[in-house]
Amino acid sequence: MEKTFVMVKPDGVQRNLIGQITNRFEKKGFQLVGAKLMVISTELAETHYAEHKEKAFFGELVEFITSGPVFAMVWEGDNVVNTSRNLIGKTNPSEASPGTIRGDFGVIVDKNIIHGSDSLESAEREINLFFKQDELISYEKQE
Ligand code: CMP
Repeated sequence: MEKTFVMVKPDGVQRNLIGQITNRFEKKGFQLVGAKLMVISTELAETHYAEHKEKAFFGELVEFITSGPVFAMVWEGDNVVNTSRNLIGKTNPSEASPGTIRGDFGVIVDKNIIHGSDSLESAEREINLFFKQDELISYEKQE
């Protein structure tokens, strides 16, 4: 079954949005198979955001994402990578549609509430960066 990595960023945690965000994934029908509240090390942040290393905002991005706790999650379901991107909305909250998480809760691009993997390859890489295999729990839904 397809899995994706989703993370409520420090601004989302500070604003008490963990519950509302996880609720949207649950209501959509996805299954939570891993979750933890954690403070990201600088090393992990630089690895996670390695593709942005040359960007002018890289330093600020690393500083921000390590500034406080994040809520890291793994969600499972059909087409969960793409569908999660749709639930999350465009990177810049000012362009994200109402009804998406960033469209409803965010204002500026550097504090955009949430991260979601942008492809199957990124999802696999990011899940393995943040979670050990034994921290992921697959289970049957009780009807
Ligand atoms: P995310 O989906 O986590 O992936 C890369 C992040 O870089 C992105 O969300 C934004 O939060 C951040 N980002 C993109 N553009 C800028 C910018 N111009 N200034 C600061 N941060 C940015």
